[in-house]
Amino acid sequence: MKSPKIGDFLFPGIMIQRGVMRILGIETSCDETALAVVDADGGLRRPQFRIAVNGVASQAKLHAKFGGVVPNLAKREHEKMLPFLWKKVQHMARNADVVAVTVGPGLEPCLWQGIQFAETTAKKLQKPIVAVNHMEGHLASVLLSVENDQQPTISFPALALLVSGGHTELVGMKQWRNYTILGETADDAAGEAFDKVARLLGLPYPGGPEVSRLAKEARKRRAQSELTFPRPMIHSRNLNFSFSGLKTAVLYALQKNPRLDAADVARAFEDAAVEVLVAKAMTAVRQEKPKTILVAGGVSANRHLRDEMECAVQKYDVRLPVLYPDPAFTGDNAAMIAAAAYFHAVKKKFTKPELLKAEGRLSIETKKR
Ligand code: KG4
Ligand code: ZN
Repeated sequence: MKSPKIGDFLFPGIMIQRGVMRILGIETSCDETALAVVDADGGLRRPQFRIAVNGVASQAKLHAKFGGVVPNLAKREHEKMLPFLWKKVQHMARNADVVAVTVGPGLEPCLWQGIQFAETTAKKLQKPIVAVNHMEGHLASVLLSVENDQQPTISFPALALLVSGGHTELVGMKQWRNYTILGETADDAAGEAFDKVARLLGLPYPGGPEVSRLAKEARKRRAQSELTFPRPMIHSRNLNFSFSGLKTAVLYALQKNPRLDAADVARAFEDAAVEVLVAKAMTAVRQEKPKTILVAGGVSANRHLRDEMECAVQKYDVRLPVLYPDPAFTGDNAAMIAAAAYFHAVKKKFTKPELLKAEGRLSIETKKR
């Protein structure tokens, strides 16, 4: 990594090194408390990230007994875990140039915990704050790697399929910080559908990995599924999704025949959900003609989704790159928040602490400036 040059750009009273920027990331939007310190370099054209430390405290086990995230419990847990994680990262964070915090979308009581922590930490370190959109964090996650080795470059325009527990979106990216939502879910998000189907099958929260594991078993047993579920909106002309009908179809199938094999149901559900995601993404590809495709968010960990996406893109254009996050960064983490903040920090887009606000329904779409 290049050695830092001192003193190149100024925020009132604060000097940040050009070359390498050290960013403390804070993420508390849902049920993961996360702090990370990331060194960023290369500007908007060739962003490179090196993770100095990445700490995630998952609350999944805590919420599992309720079958989903309980907001007030999550908030309390963030309050408890932030000081604990800080102890682990502070030796790296002390010389951070920027503090980055998720301000939305997410659970507002949880977001406020991160914001308060960002305010006090930024004051202590005397550093500016970047307010980060959680979904932009997921976009940036494709650039992170555990080994801190060569990272991919994104050619723009790019197209992103964002699939998480709260969102399912097709996003056109003209450049970093310039996004258009091309399509989104009308009801449940893809991850939410996985979680709900998992519940119907008596599988623990978070359900995505469990459903996926069972689906894989069923595929090994039989090449063709004997059970099929509808592919909602697959033939609609727009790029929107709907997953609640699919979940209801699973419910009705189980009510009609409670003896259905859980693995067969999981497989038929995953087949349907993935087919819709890939079909819509490919419609967007034909429409937008992107130079790079990104698939990110918790559900991007899904192996079947990755395989089907690869297959569809190969058929379309073998040279079109598809980027996925390293498995360590598919779920919520603070390294991706620090990485997304870099694109704002290089443009000196900071937020005054008194203007920070949790926005549960914050959109990734770029407002006209
Ligand atoms: O991005 P994320 O960690 O949190 C949000 O921002 O929502 O996404 C969490 C979602 C959960 O719904 C979880 O079940 C799903 O991602 N998920 C998966 C897999 N791993 C996590 N869904 C399908 N297959 C997986 N392997
Ligand atoms: Zn997320």
